[in-house]
Amino acid sequence: MHSTALPPDLNPAHLPRHIAVIMDGNGRWATQRGLPRIAGHRQGAKTLKALLQCCQDWGIPVLTAYAFSTENWRRPLEEVTFLLRLFERLLHQELRAMQQAGVRVRFIGDLTALPESLQTLMSEAAAATADNDGIEFNVAVNYGSRLELTQAFRGIAADLLQGKIRLEDFQESWVEARLFTAGSPDPDLLIRTSGEQRLSNYLLWQLAYAELYFTNVLWPDFDREALAEALRAYQGRDRKFGGLPPTYLTA
Ligand code: FPP
Repeated sequence: MHSTALPPDLNPAHLPRHIAVIMDGNGRWATQRGLPRIAGHRQGAKTLKALLQCCQDWGIPVLTAYAFSTENWRRPLEEVTFLLRLFERLLHQELRAMQQAGVRVRFIGDLTALPESLQTLMSEAAAATADNDGIEFNVAVNYGSRLELTQAFRGIAADLLQGKIRLEDFQESWVEARLFTAGSPDPDLLIRTSGEQRLSNYLLWQLAYAELYFTNVLWPDFDREALAEALRAYQGRDRKFGGLPPTYLTA
């Protein structure tokens, strides 16, 4: 994939530091073409690769993609098996390219439920790229916010019971430090494709102040122009973080 510059109508000083994506619509994309659903996932993986490259080219430091949710186990066994094999194959194929591009890859979610061969590949890829200084690429696999938060609260409760910490000192940073995403900035922009307008148990804590962007484009068709369109919408919004827009403050 060749490198391309940020479209001139986008302000490089006002890009999100972190984009989170819900890659929805793979199945529909395939069905529309008379193909099996898995063909949509295969194409979706290509789209994700191109998006990662694009974020890197345009100077977006963090990308987090929802690849498999804690609820996705309810899909037909053959689709689940295909997805898990696809992750494994992609990790084999793409690790070298990610290394060369300086990508730092990290997997977030309850990885213990995944096949051991996949867990091993994931921890090897994370360790091998940990010191890279390019884009941070978080892949959410067997991820669910409620699971993540419950796990965080359980850890805090255990520390409280053991007297390691005091209830009076309980603060937000304790929760943040126990999330799978600890150490990453919160997403500034959430993109969900294919017309669905839900968060689906994704980064509920981390998205507290994110701008939400929904598009009818199906994930496999989410190309550079679609990303540019999302960024235009983002740059057109007034982010107030609960305060007043700057124009009111200076008036
Ligand atoms: C949602 O579309 C998509 C998924 C549950 C799978 C996403 C996975 C990929 C794009 C592969 C990425 C690979 C890596 C290594 C991260 P859907 O199946 O719900 O589509 P539908 O709503 O049209 O049925």
